[in-house]
Amino acid sequence: MDSRSPFLPTLHLILVLVVVLPIFADASSRLYIVYMGEKKHDDPSVVTASHHDALTSVFGSKDEAMKSIVYSYKHGFSGFAAMLTESQAEELAKLPGVVSVKPNTYHKAHTTRSWDFLGLNYYEQSNLLKKANYGEDVIVGGYGLHHEASKITAMALCPHDGRESARPVRSSTQRVARKIIGARWYSGDIPDELLKGEYKSPRDLSGHGTHAASTILGGQVYNVSHRQSGLAAGMARGGAPRARLAVYKACWGPKIDCGDASVLAAIDDAINDGVDVLSLSLGGYGEVPGTLHAVARGITVVFAGGNEGPVPQSVSNAVPWVITVAASTIDRSFPTVMSLGNKEKLVGQSLNYNATMNNSNFHMLVDGQRCDEDSLASVNITGKIVLCSAPLEAANSSPNSAFAATFVAVVKRRAKGLIYAQYSANVLDGFEDFCHLYLPASCVLVDYEIASRIASYAKSTRKSVVKISRVVSVVGNGVLAPRIAMFSSRGPSNEFPAILKPDISAPGVSILAAVGDSYKFMSGTSMACPHVSAVAALLKSVHPDWSPAMIKSAIVTTGMYSCHTTSSVCISYMASVTDRFGMPIQAEGAPRKIADPFDFGGGQIDPDKSIDPGLVYDIDPKEYTKFFNCTLGPKDDCESYVGQLYQLNLPSIAVPNLKDSVTVWRTVTNVGGEEGTYKASIEAPAGVRMSVEPSIITFTKGGSRSATFKVTFTARQRVQAGYTFGSLTWLDGVTHSVRIPVVVRTIIQDFLSDTS
Ligand SMILES: *[C@@H]1O[C@H](CO)[C@@H](O)[C@H](O)[C@H]1NC(C)=O
Ligand SMILES: *[C@@H]1O[C@H](CO)[C@@H](O)[C@H](O)[C@H]1NC(C)=O
Ligand SMILES: *[C@@H]1O[C@H](CO)[C@@H](O)[C@H](O)[C@H]1NC(C)=O
Ligand SMILES: *[C@@H]1O[C@H](CO)[C@@H](O)[C@H](O)[C@H]1NC(C)=O
Ligand SMILES: *[C@@H]1O[C@H](CO)[C@@H](O)[C@H](O)[C@H]1NC(C)=O
Repeated sequence: MDSRSPFLPTLHLILVLVVVLPIFADASSRLYIVYMGEKKHDDPSVVTASHHDALTSVFGSKDEAMKSIVYSYKHGFSGFAAMLTESQAEELAKLPGVVSVKPNTYHKAHTTRSWDFLGLNYYEQSNLLKKANYGEDVIVGGYGLHHEASKITAMALCPHDGRESARPVRSSTQRVARKIIGARWYSGDIPDELLKGEYKSPRDLSGHGTHAASTILGGQVYNVSHRQSGLAAGMARGGAPRARLAVYKACWGPKIDCGDASVLAAIDDAINDGVDVLSLSLGGYGEVPGTLHAVARGITVVFAGGNEGPVPQSVSNAVPWVITVAASTIDRSFPTVMSLGNKEKLVGQSLNYNATMNNSNFHMLVDGQRCDEDSLASVNITGKIVLCSAPLEAANSSPNSAFAATFVAVVKRRAKGLIYAQYSANVLDGFEDFCHLYLPASCVLVDYEIASRIASYAKSTRKSVVKISRVVSVVGNGVLAPRIAMFSSRGPSNEFPAILKPDISAPGVSILAAVGDSYKFMSGTSMACPHVSAVAALLKSVHPDWSPAMIKSAIVTTGMYSCHTTSSVCISYMASVTDRFGMPIQAEGAPRKIADPFDFGGGQIDPDKSIDPGLVYDIDPKEYTKFFNCTLGPKDDCESYVGQLYQLNLPSIAVPNLKDSVTVWRTVTNVGGEEGTYKASIEAPAGVRMSVEPSIITFTKGGSRSATFKVTFTARQRVQAGYTFGSLTWLDGVTHSVRIPVVVRTIIQDFLSDTS
């Protein structure tokens, strides 16, 4: 028997609970973030001095004040993080110049691997570390080694040892490493428990950051495959291989925890370092003020939208100035043949790649039904392959947590393998991370139909057996893709229903990229985010003068999408889309459906098209503060505006409260040929009349580069309706098709009853 006790998962659960106990035991004071808005002086030391003054005034002593500071934000904006008592925090909040004082909070990286439930991946990494000097030497700085396209920053990523200094390279991942032009780390707000076993350096422990980095800008590496198993073998290559990377490690420990105070410090430095793109595969940072300062400095900020799908209203990081990314599947699948004792062959999905396991043998098969404590009490699954199928539970919980409960129960009873029924196989690699450690015959995901056939076989004989063959990977035409991943978080945004989120989707399921010294699959919007960051970096290098809003617009308005009507623009689009089957893009979930803007915003990213969008929807960063009624920063810098967020010039329109009629204004800027005539093509949401005025826009040589138009929505029915979807496309009849998604909800009462 393997030395790893099958009881370990439970033990880990306990450890994890210990980890989340209150941080900084001293009950009287805790870490607060004091935000003071735009910095008032160019000299950082002057800015810092103003922080010291503010703190000294509440501490009464400069020494005490200095001791309390954890971070000083002085490059991109002004503020600090300090240990304060509640009354000191209240006092500080009253000082002139202080915009807000908030307790530090912690968030997670957006990967399906960082499941809260076990923290198993951490221990797995630790084992690997011992075995293979995991991640050792992954690195290094060195300026100007490569022709520079553009600089990128990836947050939560960390393969460099030593603060800001360059060290010689000796590593198989040096193709990534040589592009890293600097690395910093931030652990000021991380409790010691989380730092145990961690590198006190920018070096990556979890692999999450390295994975994102190599997705963005890894060089070409031949003959890579998942854990060097031959699975999904081929050439790995980052999306923007000539970009350079600055690394800011602000996330730590088994669950990849990130503190606001550290993330802010990283963003402050990144602004100062002159990065062009911030790639943030993190949860819940939308409103961290630092990102708005970054955008105001011309930095495109890309966020993962979260892995809380498929339920509606689960998207996070929904502020309008960032690009929020959904995850989609790619054209690869992993069919695995299961042969039953009655010679029936059924197919599931697995990453059962272990050649030494071979699995050429039949194993005892037992139906564990729901595999909860009750149903497992009546069967003996020890040493057997167990079938678990709980459709009711699955429909009511996230794929991860449902699997976690089953997994723990099955491992505790020392099963040899697991056949697990699921609505989608999107979480295959996340599951496999745990399966291959604790279940020698691995896990296979099946749908409920296959599960029921296996169950009826198991019932038919007293000695049921199954053989699980080694997985093969299938790529290309046979696989329907892209589809929005089951786990990908969906709109509408709870915080800002008048802002459509997510903005765009990109590949985020079973992405093969570097982790330490090898390559492996990971899934999550964390993996989708760097794909968009890479495209943003490419756009920035092609169009250095474009603002973050223009880059976002170019990406959103050229996405591949699904049609909901038979309008002429829809028909001609469907004829031209690259989808090989003429199938609309689908969104996985229960039930699966045609993808709509709440699943993927403008659609699936189409990098080539985004280079030449024709028209863009630009936004002056000052508009964001204005539209937030000056609540984002100091009042004196802000021209107050009382109006609706849907008037912000975004490349999408979301009207969450259409009563009779609403008029929305937009301005487009011509970035195509000097001359051109664009005609509006409308796909009105069901139940809504939609008109555009003017419906023809002409750009002439020497004339204005921008044009403003209005879109009027009128409710056609007097019912409290749910959201319906449409679009507005400007067509120049030649090459440009500039499409924005439209979502409208009709209401007749002031209360909202139907939200998704
Ligand atoms: C990839 O591996 C195969 C077999 O191991 C080898 O024949 C081939 O030359 C390798 N290709 C490259 C580009 O290294
Ligand atoms: C794998 O299976 C083959 C027969 O299919 C057998 O010859 C071989 O010894 C097995 N390998 C191992 C490591 O069990
Ligand atoms: C494959 O399975 C064998 C037997 O359980 C195990 O010893 C070995 O470490 C596994 N290999 C990998 C790459 O997981
Ligand atoms: C369950 O099955 C295993 C393996 O066949 C056996 O060793 C064990 O004693 C059984 N447990 C019970 C409670 O019957
Ligand atoms: C700004 O204030 C107006 C009027 O009170 C309100 O309708 C709007 O929702 C506010 N905007 C935000 C972003 O809070």
